[in-house]
Amino acid sequence: MEIIIQPTAEAASAVAAEIVARLLCEKPDAVLGLPTGQTPLLLYRELIRLYRKGQVDFRRVTTFNLDEYVGFGSKHPQSYHSFMREHFFRHINISQKNVHVPDGMAKNIPAFSVRYEKMIRAAGGIDLQILGIGADGHIGFNEPSSSLASRTRIKTLAPQTRKDNAKFFGGENKVPYHVITMGIGTIMEARQCLLLAFGGKKSHAVAGAVEGAITAMNPASALQVHPTVKICLDKSAAAGLQKADYYRWVYENKPAWQKNC
Ligand code: F6R
Repeated sequence: MEIIIQPTAEAASAVAAEIVARLLCEKPDAVLGLPTGQTPLLLYRELIRLYRKGQVDFRRVTTFNLDEYVGFGSKHPQSYHSFMREHFFRHINISQKNVHVPDGMAKNIPAFSVRYEKMIRAAGGIDLQILGIGADGHIGFNEPSSSLASRTRIKTLAPQTRKDNAKFFGGENKVPYHVITMGIGTIMEARQCLLLAFGGKKSHAVAGAVEGAITAMNPASALQVHPTVKICLDKSAAAGLQKADYYRWVYENKPAWQKNC
């Protein structure tokens, strides 16, 4: 794991945007796995800025979102389809046919989930999976106790996650109970993972994921056995890390040829 600690969420998101931009430069038809939520907003804003400056091109890029609320169609204002359109896709030159978000209206969720996995494989697999993390360590909506080998499927949100997401709904009672989410096994098949976390509320989950035992009780800890993971943190999210100074030191002393990798 490469732990990149920056003073602010803006600075950490700029580093993350650089990582994405570099990949798209090397592989213009890359496949990205994308999250929603508060965390990636600054990254999306920065990628939009780079696109407007002509520094990134999404024309040949394919995307797969991690999750969607069950019962929400693509036009629902709170759906993740709408979220992605509003905060990212409508601002860049991505081709609509290359965009994939789980279908919250799927009649047969297990069959849809199998199809979603097939679509990821048919696209060549995910090159870079971008992730946020829940205060309980969830990635995608794989809540604690999710199998570390899980695949795309329906999950029930933990009470804390529904509370945390109430801000997007104007009240906890309006937050759905069920989601379709890529599994941890699905996420682990991405060639590279890039996890972002900002704010003190995430520090406990981040510390467990990076320095704790690998356990289904902190699903992000599964990333410890992924060969290529970068974790971009602001100072507050890194506050629980015992070896924070060491991670800073390693980052500052990367060999010159590796600086931009
Ligand atoms: C959303 C997702 C979730 C979020 C997590 C953090 O697509 O996959 O794992 O990344 O719930 O949410 P925020 O960023 O709102 O704190």
